[in-house]
Amino acid sequence: MRLIFLGAPGAGKGTQAVYLCEKYAIPQISTGDMLRKAVQDGAELGRQAKAIMESGGLVSDDIIIGLMRERLAQPDCGRGYILDGFPRTLAQAAGLDAMLGKDGIQLVLLFDVPEKVILARLTSRRTCSQCGKIFNMISNPPPADLVCPDCGGRIIQRDDDTEATVLNRLRVYEEKTAPLKGYYEKQNKLAILRGDAPLDQIHREMDDLVAPLAR
Ligand code: AP5
Repeated sequence: MRLIFLGAPGAGKGTQAVYLCEKYAIPQISTGDMLRKAVQDGAELGRQAKAIMESGGLVSDDIIIGLMRERLAQPDCGRGYILDGFPRTLAQAAGLDAMLGKDGIQLVLLFDVPEKVILARLTSRRTCSQCGKIFNMISNPPPADLVCPDCGGRIIQRDDDTEATVLNRLRVYEEKTAPLKGYYEKQNKLAILRGDAPLDQIHREMDDLVAPLAR
């Protein structure tokens, strides 16, 4: 099962990916998580990416495509994967198609959420600094001691979840990532879901779309 989750910042890509990845035992491959880990580890990639991420811009296509080429060659990708936050530009999408050849992406799920909802979600999101588990002060509050129940890591607010940076991320999304909708529509791979629906409804809709691929 080879899927892409597409959508604006805060559309719920990470949250919904966890559901399907657990169900089908496939990895969630999030370029955002990979870059945040590189920043945390003080790696060269992290040093290059830190300021760009804090401003809400995009890391260069060459770096990201190279990172994904390495990641998709890992053995845990053999049964499939969900790409969360990649591709994010037309160049990345073309790079992915070239990388995968005939075993291409089967389905692209686009989570559509109004901008007002996104702003409210992201400014109230909290994230585990170790394992990336996602919480929300309104819809899914973290424990009061801000210690992650899964890994014991510290639960924090991401540096790029301030209102000013979220607004810039939304602008960048419209300019660079939204054109991917047409790209995958032309390939007949696009399905659009309402990302502001209740979680159980989103799960049901994803199940209906994805089940035929698992047969
Ligand atoms: P990345 O980490 O990929 O951030 P993003 O795409 O902006 O997406 P988010 O993680 O913010 O949101 P999400 O859609 O996963 O929403 P979530 O599930 O958390 O990228 C960060 C940065 O890294 C980029 O800005 C860029 O600089 C760089 N980068 C990454 N990939 C790159 C690439 N390919 N190329 C170049 N640069 C790249 O949900 C949000 C909140 O809503 C949560 O609190 C959740 O609990 C809540 N929620 C979700 N669904 C629901 C629901 N149905 N009802 C109620 N609440 C919900």
